[in-house]
Amino acid sequence: MSEIADVAVIGGGPGGYVAAIRCAQLGLNTVCIDAWKNARGRASLGGTCLNVGCIPSKALLESSEQYFQIQHKISAHGIQVENATVDVPAMIARKDKIVTTFTTGIASLFKKNKVKSMLGTGRLLKRTDKDDTWRVEVNDGENKQTIQARYVIVATGSVPRQLPMIDIDNEKILDNVGALDLSEVPANLGVIGAGVIGLEMGSVWRRLGSEVTVLEAMPDFLAAADDQIAKEAKKIFSKEPGLAIHTGIEIESIKTSKKSVTVQYRDADGNEQKLEVDKLIVAIGRVPNTRDLEADESGLDLDERGFIAVDEYCQTNLTNVYAVGDVVRGPMLAHKASEEGVAVAEAIAAREKGHQLKSTEPVNFDTIPWVIYTAPEIAWVGKTEQELKKAGVAYKVGQFPFIANGRARAMNTTSGFIKVIADADTDRILGIHMLGPHVSELISEAVMAMEFAASSEDIASIVHAHPSLSEVLHEASLDTNKRALHI
Ligand code: FAD
Ligand code: NAI
Repeated sequence: MSEIADVAVIGGGPGGYVAAIRCAQLGLNTVCIDAWKNARGRASLGGTCLNVGCIPSKALLESSEQYFQIQHKISAHGIQVENATVDVPAMIARKDKIVTTFTTGIASLFKKNKVKSMLGTGRLLKRTDKDDTWRVEVNDGENKQTIQARYVIVATGSVPRQLPMIDIDNEKILDNVGALDLSEVPANLGVIGAGVIGLEMGSVWRRLGSEVTVLEAMPDFLAAADDQIAKEAKKIFSKEPGLAIHTGIEIESIKTSKKSVTVQYRDADGNEQKLEVDKLIVAIGRVPNTRDLEADESGLDLDERGFIAVDEYCQTNLTNVYAVGDVVRGPMLAHKASEEGVAVAEAIAAREKGHQLKSTEPVNFDTIPWVIYTAPEIAWVGKTEQELKKAGVAYKVGQFPFIANGRARAMNTTSGFIKVIADADTDRILGIHMLGPHVSELISEAVMAMEFAASSEDIASIVHAHPSLSEVLHEASLDTNKRALHI
């Protein structure tokens, strides 16, 4: 006899676990099925984000940045530290402890909210006209059981995109999993893909002493970011010791030997080049994970790129089946996945109360922030200058550098700037772009401003604490109307 729930969530990452908690808070009897197992074979909720993504990468970025500061920057404060060393296994163990704290934390949140958690692979079964519920088969490797649910939320996430010519072994050729779990600092590290993972993971190992070479296929660096920010970031990164970034390359072959990995590639000028490294990280994007769902069988539509096809409310082509997070269109970000999870939970609860199919709000993609946790950090929300130019929108720009900010000077982190783009006629903010210290935190003010349809004058009229990094955003907003005070 199968169990009956109101909602079955397939996938326990930030899309799925947040959807499950919100469904339960709204009074829906909810089960969350997740397949992730940790190294000891135990359930480990939180998906990519908690296990091998956002959280472990930020833990290592923080540790490596502290070491880098001690090695290269702390003397500017008049502090001398000699013989600082790195204990990589201890650093990795600290990262693992943080991961376990959060993954077990989700299990506790499930208990608190009365979400039933099941370890196993979920598969949506075909529904006939006679059925009034969906059935999800849960396979834990030994046993199979079936859950019946009136609603299903698919949140199966994404997996790394593979290069056709090699296999990831996570010994010499690494994806994000291997890159977060090295036991020593490689003397030479290659990275294929100057995207978010390539830059973040390259930063970790470079700060710890690796000579890092990044090979990027696109002619431009960080094509999704504002051009001016991307150019300045590349200039700053290229001056750092131990980092080389080559854009416009084409990989021709990758060969591994016991000792090393050799990458043969053509550079931007068409010349043959060879790179020999101890380890190679491949970070060339991620693809939606629908492998175990057997979408064909249930009739779940995928789009031409393999994502589950959904509308703006995350509804699939199947009645009462939703999909959220990396497995659907839109940015592959944890906060986007979670917001979609909440939106879908709210939509299901509204429908249970007899409201219209589309009575709740979809997630606003125009105000989703992006952050890249390099040093200096990069963050943005809204449109880039190049997007506005292409769309023929008239705009004005204000900007202000961190070097003219008292707090940034005190912190000895003066690289970068903030740029505010506003509509030329209405002054409404269209985009805010940041490169500098702690901009991962400063971006929230920009998101809030855009969500409330603020003008640049609105930010300019708000009192910002002195001395604080937030004054850079204040001054950049003043500058859109040529009123900056401190430059
Ligand atoms: P996932 O987190 O991938 O979770 C999907 C879950 O579903 C997994 O547990 C998987 O095992 C399970 N699953 C899959 N198929 C089945 C099935 N058939 N049955 C049962 N379970 C199944 N984003 C940010 O916003 N900020 C960051 O700083 C950031 N850093 C990142 C760093 C790295 C190295 C990586 C790789 C990603 C990072 N991301 C970051 C992206 C972020 O991790 C993803 O956007 C986010 O995890 C997507 O959440 P999700 O719930 O859609 O999918
Ligand atoms: P990405 O899409 O950010 O970058 C991939 C890069 O690889 C691109 O610049 C692309 O041009 C390049 N590339 C593709 N094929 C190539 C080839 N054959 N040779 C050389 N270069 C090639 O993808 P990435 O870094 O793998 O990350 C995946 C996603 O994970 C990100 O898009 C992001 O959504 C998420 N993420 C978010 C983080 C954050 O929010 N801070 C951190 C890490 C990941």
